[in-house]
Amino acid sequence: MCGIVGYIGKKEAVPILIDGIKRLEYRGYDSAGIAVLADNDLILQKKAGRISELEKEISNLKIHSTIGIAHTRWATHGEPSDSNAHPHLDCSGEIAVVHNGIIENNNTLREFLKRKGHKFRTPTDTEVIAHLVEEYYKGDLLQATRFALAEVEGTYGIAVIHKRKREIVIARMGSPLVVGQGKDEYFVASDVAALIHYTREVVYLEDGELASITDEGYMVTNLNEDEIIPKIEEVTWTLDEIEKGGYPHYMLKEIFEQPTTLENAIRGRLNFTEGIARLDGLDMNLEALQDAERIILTACGTAWHAGLVGEYMIEKTAGIACEVEYASEFRYRSPILDERSVVFAITQSGETADTLAAVKEAKRKGALTLGICNVVGSSIARKTDGGIYIHAGPEIGVASTKAFTSQVIVLSMVALLLGRIRHLSYEEGREIVEAISELPSRVGKVLKQNKKIMNIARKFYKSNNFLFLGRSYNYPVALEGALKLKEISYIHAEGYPAAEMKHGPIALIDEKMPVVFIATKSMVYDKIISNIQEVKCRKGIVLAVISEGDEEIKNLVDYAVEVPLTIDMLSPILTTIPLQLLAYHIAVMRGLDVDKPRNLAKSVTVE
Ligand code: G6P
Repeated sequence: MCGIVGYIGKKEAVPILIDGIKRLEYRGYDSAGIAVLADNDLILQKKAGRISELEKEISNLKIHSTIGIAHTRWATHGEPSDSNAHPHLDCSGEIAVVHNGIIENNNTLREFLKRKGHKFRTPTDTEVIAHLVEEYYKGDLLQATRFALAEVEGTYGIAVIHKRKREIVIARMGSPLVVGQGKDEYFVASDVAALIHYTREVVYLEDGELASITDEGYMVTNLNEDEIIPKIEEVTWTLDEIEKGGYPHYMLKEIFEQPTTLENAIRGRLNFTEGIARLDGLDMNLEALQDAERIILTACGTAWHAGLVGEYMIEKTAGIACEVEYASEFRYRSPILDERSVVFAITQSGETADTLAAVKEAKRKGALTLGICNVVGSSIARKTDGGIYIHAGPEIGVASTKAFTSQVIVLSMVALLLGRIRHLSYEEGREIVEAISELPSRVGKVLKQNKKIMNIARKFYKSNNFLFLGRSYNYPVALEGALKLKEISYIHAEGYPAAEMKHGPIALIDEKMPVVFIATKSMVYDKIISNIQEVKCRKGIVLAVISEGDEEIKNLVDYAVEVPLTIDMLSPILTTIPLQLLAYHIAVMRGLDVDKPRNLAKSVTVE
């Protein structure tokens, strides 16, 4: 989720590169860097913080260059810092690389290269690529990059330059790259937003393709050295449309990103042979995890709901006592903690003041603290003893969507790991691993029902109240569905465990009250059907999220959205999505600012 820009031509490269990465800053903004060729030298400048910091530094240098690459970073390996910013260099300092994506076999390659005598300057996965290209470089940069990439597992969009060549080599696997064609000049970008001010004629690279770009033109090939005829396309989108990926709002874009963000969260973390999850940031604390007597999950807002799902997962799968605490209440409650307690702080931003305070309190009491964060190098990621990044990329819409599903999938892997180092059998572990791996494509299937959900929203967008009900793993989804609707549509909505309805909320039900049930096939299926009947016979209107092909419930309710089957513990990842879309469409129909709802902030840094 970072940004790449490159330029080769006759104009001053530095202003073009800086302008380009600034246009990509919305995709990642924790550090930035630039590498250009000037006076037979490779000049490198990198800076933590916003791009304006880098710009200030560079303007003092008065560089004249007509070829270079630049990057704005959203950290995945190594916290944001001057040295971890891209570009990264090889040992000789002659090869510079910028990279988007994640190299899964980073550790193996790093060890291999170290044995060959390469000296690393940073813990980043990108630096590995620079050394690999150096290892294979014999005067042909394209070939060296091709050989290097043959060793790489994972995703990449890269741009590479060499001190002694007027050439930019780029390559793509799972992370977009585009070449822009100007008059006697060429541009490279990970996103057309960076180059449409210069040209609208572009060539999109496909996965497995590389290109060599020189002053004379560009040549596209693939990893097998076949030449590819490039297809030149014209970009017709406006800048605003591009930044939102063609969606009208960031929130909708982020909802639709979920198959990819979930894929990123599980990438390299599932071991099919052993039926276990590999969580590098936790493995170092494996002994403490084995000894753990209590797990506490602490968080705020949507992340707290992810924690509630995690509680069900951990108790059932790992058989360890688990509690979920509002971070804001945690330290005022004198929690009983000791060295056999493990406290997970779940947070998208990693900056929420209440969650940070809870981490400090847990540490003070001797517990092991671990983070489940999105923003790499954030305060909570740094303050905890270890943790797992969810790799969801920047979440811009204030209402959290993709971060929630990624937090839940990461928690499922935590539950799996905790289970497998305790009583969970190999077969049970395998079943969970398989189910996790199938989720991204199943989420894609749910998203296909967007139109249907929009039509349902049209019937209800004028309602003043909503009730959301679910049981077991889907009780937290009821809370999250109600929160999403509240946050962006300002409709009063409440979430309850379905069985609790009869202890109070049932009094609210009449023919004007929409009740959303999460009623997928699960161990509590029959009970949920009874709850639906209780609402129907009081004339309530029922919308239900149900399992694919469930005719029984379909005949009972007024509106139904189907989701694919999965194991019980993972169903929240599928059932949340229709509720995100329902809230989104209702808010749009009410004419509200979906991405910036009133009174709310993306990151709450006050207690
Ligand atoms: C704010 C946001 C919520 C978010 C919560 C926790 O209230 O509006 O969307 O869930 O903070 O944020 P965190 O960054 O810690 O996940």
